[in-house]
Amino acid sequence: MREINLLDSYPRSTRPIAERQAAVPLQREIARKFGYEYFDGDRTQGYGGYRYDGRWVAVARRMIEYYGLRAGNHILDVGCAKGFLLHDFQQVLHGVLVAGLDVSHYGLSNAMDDVKPHLVRGTAERLPFADGSFDLVVSINTIHNLELGSCREAIREMERVSRSHKYLQVDSWLTEEQHQNFLRWQLTAVTYFDPQTWRQVFRDVDYTGDFYWTLTE
Ligand SMILES: C[S@@+](CC[C@H](N)C(=O)[O-])C[C@H]1O[C@@H](n2cnc3c(N)ncnc32)[C@H](O)[C@@H]1O
Repeated sequence: MREINLLDSYPRSTRPIAERQAAVPLQREIARKFGYEYFDGDRTQGYGGYRYDGRWVAVARRMIEYYGLRAGNHILDVGCAKGFLLHDFQQVLHGVLVAGLDVSHYGLSNAMDDVKPHLVRGTAERLPFADGSFDLVVSINTIHNLELGSCREAIREMERVSRSHKYLQVDSWLTEEQHQNFLRWQLTAVTYFDPQTWRQVFRDVDYTGDFYWTLTE
């Protein structure tokens, strides 16, 4: 288990925190449906337009290099949304096999055509895959959307279906300012901790993979 930021190339987004904060009580319920409004509706309800722009290419490259992935390896993305990261894995590493799971009908039905056949609808705490199916299991900004018990199950599931590497990224903070920004900004997370408490959760469920934090700056 190692704390390492494999999304260090991912661009920082501009966050109109005050605007979002004013809308939060109403918009949380809408956002948590993970439908059109969350992905492609107003910025106060979610992404404000979740469109492919190639930003995952560098992340895919970083993971391929860090984990030494090769053609024929099998990668699962838990909370894959429209499949952008999986698409980029396929672009960067020919012959890689990809699979994705997400709870969102909207995300999956608007997924990129080349990955669509490899995506399934489901929930992170019950992965419909056999033990040891994947060389790399990734989950980015997804499992903090589950209640703690389900969140722990989701981490156990990542461990179960992996035969080798795992990378998990969740909401957290390194400073009190980031903590306060997070509380004002976030819409969908229900399980969130400081890094020390997250690490304890990971140990409690015998997680052996890598992890890092999504910080609200
Ligand atoms: C913040 S988005 C992250 C999407 C993508 N991983 C990324 O980083 O761009 C959160 C994703 O988690 C999905 N999600 C929420 N609850 C889930 C669950 N119980 N099981 C699987 N996916 C879930 C949402 O539909 C959404 O696609």
